[in-house]
Amino acid sequence: MYFKLFMIILINFCIFIYSASANNALINYQIIDYAIPLSLTSVSGNPESGQKIVISREGNCLACHQIPNIVDKFQGNIGPSLAGVGNRYTMGELRLRLVDPYVINSKSLMPAFYKNQNLIRVDKKYTGKSILTAQQIEDVISWLATLKN
Ligand code: HEC
Repeated sequence: MYFKLFMIILINFCIFIYSASANNALINYQIIDYAIPLSLTSVSGNPESGQKIVISREGNCLACHQIPNIVDKFQGNIGPSLAGVGNRYTMGELRLRLVDPYVINSKSLMPAFYKNQNLIRVDKKYTGKSILTAQQIEDVISWLATLKN
């Protein structure tokens, strides 16, 4: 009798720990004035890796954006050209735009790249995971910051 109760409590505790750790898998960040001013990681972003992610299927940014100096690739036009984004936005603004564009525009067509909840139409392999890791976000924005007119 007590053993059964103990097992139920134990199982519930495990489920709680599991779901708590799954929810906490993403780094907490603070949004101030439509920007995330602080880096998500302690390692600063690497622009070269960032460019690779942008061109790759992982980022898939080219499906929707034209990006200067990248040739021989299909470039979509659902979103604005990324030429000069480094002039238009601060690092903090670029970070929020990638992490969760719905904060800026609730009807945004751009996916949230660092979010694992309240997502719509998520592919099975991304369930519970963000599309990019925190370090990949930092790499991508460090490259975007170099896109100046
Ligand atoms: C499914 C289409 C789609 C994909 C994929 C996408 N974006 Fe976007 N993006 C948009 C749209 C649409 C906007 C315009 C603002 C809005 O609707 O939120 C935008 C806006 C932006 C902006 C702000 C540009 C400006 O001038 O205001 C940046 C920066 C940006 N995207 C970067 C990226 C990067 C980097 C990636 C890849 C990691 C990416 N986007 C992937 C659709 C997309």
